[in-house]
Amino acid sequence: MCGIVGYSSTSNSIELSEFVSMIKSLDYRGYDSWGFTFKDADQLKTEKQLGKIETPNQQGSATFVIGHTRWATHGKVTKDNTHPHTSNSNKISLVHNGIIENHQELRNKLKDNGFNFYGETDTEVIPNLIEFHLRTSESVLEAFKKTLDELKGTFAITFLHDKSKKIFFARRDSPLTIGVDKDSLIVSSDVTSFIDRTKKVIYLEDGDYGYINSEIKIFNKEKEVHREISEIDWDVSKAKKGDFKHFMLKEISEQVDTVKQALIQDSKLIEKITNELKSSEVYIVACGSSYNAAKAAEGEFLKNGLIPRIIHAHEFEQYEKFLSEKSTIIAISQSGETLDLINAVKIAKTREAKINAIVNVQGSSLTRLSDNNIFMNVGPEICVLSTKSYTAQVAILMLLASSLINKPNESKQEIEEIVRHIYYLTSESARKHTKELSQILRYSNHIFTIGRGRDYATAMEAALKIKEVSYIHAEGFAGGEIKHGPIAMIEHGTPCIVFVPNKNNQDILSNAQELKSRGAFIIGISEKKDETFDYWIKVLGPDKFSPILRIIPIQALSYYLAIMKGLDPDKPRNLAKSVTVK
Ligand code: F6R
Repeated sequence: MCGIVGYSSTSNSIELSEFVSMIKSLDYRGYDSWGFTFKDADQLKTEKQLGKIETPNQQGSATFVIGHTRWATHGKVTKDNTHPHTSNSNKISLVHNGIIENHQELRNKLKDNGFNFYGETDTEVIPNLIEFHLRTSESVLEAFKKTLDELKGTFAITFLHDKSKKIFFARRDSPLTIGVDKDSLIVSSDVTSFIDRTKKVIYLEDGDYGYINSEIKIFNKEKEVHREISEIDWDVSKAKKGDFKHFMLKEISEQVDTVKQALIQDSKLIEKITNELKSSEVYIVACGSSYNAAKAAEGEFLKNGLIPRIIHAHEFEQYEKFLSEKSTIIAISQSGETLDLINAVKIAKTREAKINAIVNVQGSSLTRLSDNNIFMNVGPEICVLSTKSYTAQVAILMLLASSLINKPNESKQEIEEIVRHIYYLTSESARKHTKELSQILRYSNHIFTIGRGRDYATAMEAALKIKEVSYIHAEGFAGGEIKHGPIAMIEHGTPCIVFVPNKNNQDILSNAQELKSRGAFIIGISEKKDETFDYWIKVLGPDKFSPILRIIPIQALSYYLAIMKGLDPDKPRNLAKSVTVK
């Protein structure tokens, strides 16, 4: 989490307000507090603010600036804990994304050497450690290298030194890129901060460190290395809200295209991966919505003869002893940076398992660890909540499942047919109906979501969407489980969203009846209306694609619940888009 950015140019200064808008484009990575430092002759000047990123107080321009938007992990949201962090003598100003595991030990060592600390963050040790090593080093780079050798944990770092016309950087397990413009270089957690300036990017590798000024110097294991410049293949408009009030609504609406785009894949690659799946033990690892996507497709894999073990990435360690070169991993991640997933993939690699990624962000850590990458092709997802990436993940998994029985085109044709349903579900008239429901549910304390089979995964994903953006407690249950405990929670008026398939729906309708007889307010998501429903959302389309179709009204419902409650749907509290901590 946290976003870092540094601008360097020896010829062209940047307005500080413009620089701050670059930090703002990273605020999906964290939005608790923000700050920046710029070089003014041989002095470092810093501004820090709490809350959302606004216009800076400092006016003017600079040629060397670093900035940060914070998602608090170590220490509360205070100015002292806000980045950039400066060393005791104000020689070094530094921003960091990640966790320094041995910060306490380093803090004690620095205290013994006369350094003072003012905040609670793990980051604060880094600028002071660089300053400490400067005492015995011939260059800033040497002091930086000595510092890096002492740090344990994950990080992306950039810093300014008062006397150097350079921005120093390093990465280990946290993303860092360099945007290459005509007369400036920009080091940043993500390309979104510079996509409107340049599409030329270098994706730094783990262990890279160095500096930028008018040139780029990159080292790894003390040797200078060269990294290729790639071209970003999506347009800046994709990272803008356009006519939409929020990214969440824009991204929900985009699904009419993104579900199709997700299926534009290299058929040879799909065939190769499918052959691997057929001849090995398959583990699907992911977190959050990406995990729910795997669960949503599980039934299709089972139907086509494959039993995938679907495991939360953070629990994967327990499976290590079962892994071998005969294992195939499908790692699913929108960001490609989720640390738990990256760790799971690293474990699998040590056991020589094959790694296939379903991933959205090009150049992300996951893409560099994987043997094969299936890109989701949905463009940048800026809202913290996963919407279009979730349905794209499900679509790709369905493609893999149908490839198992040598019918890869089956899903493609079927998806073409369901696009008209997605078109309706994302239309204004469908959303109007969902908005009405949000008015009914806005004061609820609990919402339960219930489904069976593939719709159980939809229930889980629906509950996740509702709770993370509206802060209403929502929980997803398998229809068959409710009478084993959860039904005790039902009171008069408790909202229960029930996902009802077109075929074999007797059991789930009985569950709805059981809930209704205890006073529940039943919201049915189905093709046909049923007498048990107190509110009905009509969703047409084949059951096979219900994980894609039936989640869309709930994405919209979640959005409207947030709006009704005066919340920002793009930036729910306590969350960030890319979870690069354990
Ligand atoms: C929920 C959501 C999260 C992510 C999870 C994994 O709306 O966005 O649950 O799905 O943090 O993120 P990725 O897919 O980037 O690994």
